[in-house]
Amino acid sequence: MSRMLIKGGTVVTATEIMDADVLIEDGAVVAIYARGAGGVAGDLARAVAEIGAVTVIDAAGKYVMPGGVDVHTHMELPFGGTYASDDFESGTRAAAWGGTTTIIDFAVQTIGESMMSGYEQWMAKAEGRCAVDYGMHMIVSDVNDQTLKEMDTLIADGVTSFKLFMAYPGVLYSDDGKIFRAMQKASENGGMIMMHAENGIVIDVLREQAILRGQTDPIYHSVTRPPVTEAEATHRAIAYAELAGAPLYVVHMSAKEAVAEVAAARDRGLNVFGETCPQYLYLGWNNLREPDFEGAKYVCSTPVRNWDDGHQDALWQGLATNDLQVVSTDHCPFCMNDHPTLGTQKRLGEGDFTKIPNGLPGVEERMQLLYDGAVAEGRLNLNRFVEVTATTPAKMFGLYPRKGTIAIGSDADIIILDPDTTRTMSVEHNHMDVDYTCYEGKEIHGSIDVVLSRGRVLIEGGEYHGSPGDGAFLPRSTSQYLL
Ligand code: URP
Ligand code: ZN
Ligand code: ZN
Repeated sequence: MSRMLIKGGTVVTATEIMDADVLIEDGAVVAIYARGAGGVAGDLARAVAEIGAVTVIDAAGKYVMPGGVDVHTHMELPFGGTYASDDFESGTRAAAWGGTTTIIDFAVQTIGESMMSGYEQWMAKAEGRCAVDYGMHMIVSDVNDQTLKEMDTLIADGVTSFKLFMAYPGVLYSDDGKIFRAMQKASENGGMIMMHAENGIVIDVLREQAILRGQTDPIYHSVTRPPVTEAEATHRAIAYAELAGAPLYVVHMSAKEAVAEVAAARDRGLNVFGETCPQYLYLGWNNLREPDFEGAKYVCSTPVRNWDDGHQDALWQGLATNDLQVVSTDHCPFCMNDHPTLGTQKRLGEGDFTKIPNGLPGVEERMQLLYDGAVAEGRLNLNRFVEVTATTPAKMFGLYPRKGTIAIGSDADIIILDPDTTRTMSVEHNHMDVDYTCYEGKEIHGSIDVVLSRGRVLIEGGEYHGSPGDGAFLPRSTSQYLL
């Protein structure tokens, strides 16, 4: 039996902040000893002596928190004639470096093929390669009688959430009828519908017109996806989900008008949820306007928005008031310059922004960025930081309490964060397989010094101690966050 004691730290969960030591046996948390008045600290030395050999990790002066749960990543996603540059090996290793100990990625149904074949292809890509535990959502590209039946099969296999696209006509787009049919199925079988809510039909008209006017720079990616296209699609998705009686999780939200739609639906008691990502909390049009095509680094959909219009404040407020519940990354990196094996990526869109692959890196940076912007800068408290980065994502997608908390019986997926350090973000320090970071030069508070996955030390002393295949597939229950 392997035993480890995390000693001297402050344990933070979504509901508690306590000076406590955490005992881990065979990868699971087996005891939490409160130190000080009223606790059983006096018994700790005796208890540890009685149970025998223990590896001790000193967490004095540091926070001991649940490992991050990033429920929106795209390793190796085919997009715009290339592939996301992180594969499951490099992407999950980078996740570990950044304190994320669980990811949920997206298997993709190719149009004309069954969902099961897409699912099997993605499981094969991940098998034996991941550094941290992983689950799968399913991207539904074609709703038909067979796919609807396959939704039941996938739920039985622990794939309990299905992403549909109101954007990207001709590629991943589903029309309203298809979306509604998938929602009706989800209301029957308990699946969660995840929606990319942008009006792709209108956006395509605006894109074509912009290109004809010679508006080819990266900034036009955002200009041609105005907030109303996100808000309208969010409104429509909510209306269909209500009619079908299905839960709805709106992914990667960036427009304040769309957040207002989710908030209004929640006020009416609907199972409607919203996710945002660090890029929408920190980046904006100033980034897309960087000269020499550097703006392409920030091209993703939904787009980063005009800073002056109050979207970022609305997103932070949504997180504070629980109108938004989750911060994920939508990690989908493409190199600015040639990738060693994938070749030209972002530069495919030089001279035509519509050809820039959509997506940006983030899986390694989410926990640090959020700790800095939320806790260090005083926008959210420590418990809420844990809630939006770990606990709610785990509950939303059926992994709680195994993941997303520190409790007796939970997997010992734990990070130790030193709040008293500052550092400068740079691609030089990163481990994602991509040649830039969106946050080069940004000063942030706090550093994640130790990362444990099921009690195994993945990161300690500035070194990675894991190996591919440490991470296991996580079959998930249906959502544990519904009203
Ligand atoms: O720009 C993005 N978000 N790329 C990844 C695909 C998606 O829509 O999530
Ligand atoms: Zn999307
Ligand atoms: Zn995505």
